[in-house]
Formats: sequence, C-alpha cells, structure tokens
Amino acid sequence: MKAARAAPLVLAALIAGVSWQAALSQTAAVKRNAEGFPAPDRPVADIVSPIWADEAERDRRLETEQVFGLLDIKAGMTVADIGAGSGYYVVRLSPVVGPKGNVLAEDIMPDYLRDLQKRVTDLKLTNVTVVQGTTADPKLPAASVDVAFLIHMYHEIEQPYGLAYNLAKSMKPGGKVAIEDRDARPPNHGTPPDLLKCEMEAVGYRQTGFKTLDGDLGYLAIFTAPAANRLPRPADIVPCKMK
Ligand SMILES: C[S@@+](CC[C@H](N)C(=O)[O-])C[C@H]1O[C@@H](n2cnc3c(N)ncnc32)[C@H](O)[C@@H]1O
Repeated sequence: MKAARAAPLVLAALIAGVSWQAALSQTAAVKRNAEGFPAPDRPVADIVSPIWADEAERDRRLETEQVFGLLDIKAGMTVADIGAGSGYYVVRLSPVVGPKGNVLAEDIMPDYLRDLQKRVTDLKLTNVTVVQGTTADPKLPAASVDVAFLIHMYHEIEQPYGLAYNLAKSMKPGGKVAIEDRDARPPNHGTPPDLLKCEMEAVGYRQTGFKTLDGDLGYLAIFTAPAANRLPRPADIVPCKMK
C-alpha cells in the first residue's frame, strides 16, 4: 500500500486506540491465525527429521558440554527441550538435572514422540516427561521452566510468534530461552541471528547472550522472556522482515 493511502488508515487505527505497530501491520494485510498471531514474513523450513546430526559426532564436538556450560545447567533445574525430536539433548540433560530436577521433552510430531517415549522408558529416565505440543504452543505448565532449549528447530516453527508468546508463560521469572541454530536463510535449515533477535523482541523477549559454538555447530542465542503480564497483545505483534 502506498504511504499516502496508508496514512489515513493508520491515523484512524491510532484514534481507535490501536498501537502504531499494529496500525501499520493491519494496513499491510498481515496474515494472522485464529488467536491473532502473525505468520512469519519469511519461508519456514519443512520438518524432515527427528535429529539434527549424528549423536556421536555431536558428542565429539562437545555440543552439550558447551551449551550446558553457557546456561549453567545444574541439579534441581526444570529444563524444557522444545522440538526434542529423538532426544539427543533429553538423555544428556536428565542426569545433569538429577532426581530433583525435571526435563520436559516436547515435540509436535506424534511418531517422533512415540519413539522418544520408548527411549525415555527403556533408559528409565524418571525425571523426564514427554509432552505433545502444537506449532504455536508447547503446552508446558505455567511458570515452571528455568531454561528452555530450542535446538536446531527454530527455522521449522510454523508459528514462531505464537510459540514464543505461549512459551513465555511457562518460564519462571528470569528463566532463559536458549536457541541453537545455523546462520542460514530459511527455508534452508537455519535462521539469521538478526532475524531471530527481531522475532523474539517482537514478543517482548530481551537478548542477553550470543555465542558462536566451537566445532561448526552453529550459534547459541540466549533470551530472557517477558513476564506474562508484559506480553503484547497477539494482534499488536508486527512480523519481522528478512533482509
Ligand atoms: C532437526 S530436528 C532437531 C531435533 C533435536 N532438537 C536435535 O537437536 O537433534 C527438529 C525438531 O523440531 C520439531 N519441531 C518443528 N516445529 C516444531 C514446533 N512448532 N514445536 C515443537 N517442535 C517442533 C520437529 O518435529 C523435529 O523433531
């Protein structure tokens, strides 16, 4: 829409009490789901596998040692693994958080979840709960999570704004959301770090850390979630553009 034609509509929306971001996004015909969350203004990668890369190779590159160290994962914590897939992180988190901690292993694919539950049961990981979520909601208990991991899966989330919004409600105050991904443009399996930061900030998250991991594993971006009462209205979330 041309600026001259958009201006009266933006003005009308502002007078009606809608924020300027929402007013602008409404004029640009943003596609929204039933809850009002915008679709990402970029391609989304297909779900193709329950695992990012070979487990032995990831261990050789010290993936979880690096990531757990950066997040200070310790006994007694409740850690969520969003998009847990076949459980590479789950089985390594379980002994670290120990009997007083919990691992919430979440995914959206029923067959991946079935195989993950079998792995958890076979290994007798009694501190792990397998959770079925949806593309826009990991469906975790409110205010329960110290650290949430999204490992090599952000680029596959069909509703990243909805997922970040609903995840925020599950975080304890000060809890951290850690996103590991490659710096690649979706629909390839990665997310440019500046795009990730923009999308998370659009839901009220604050980036508190960023590190390129050793061993060609991609990057780890760390965010603090907004308190549940500081979340924006879904209809006010303005989708970010990929440069
Ligand atoms: C490439 S696999 C990575 C699995 C595991 N995190 C790892 O590091 O090996 C991506 C996983 O994310 C899951 N996924 C995709 N979109 C999701 C969403 N909106 N919510 C939860 N899981 C999702 C897929 O089903 C798949 O299991």
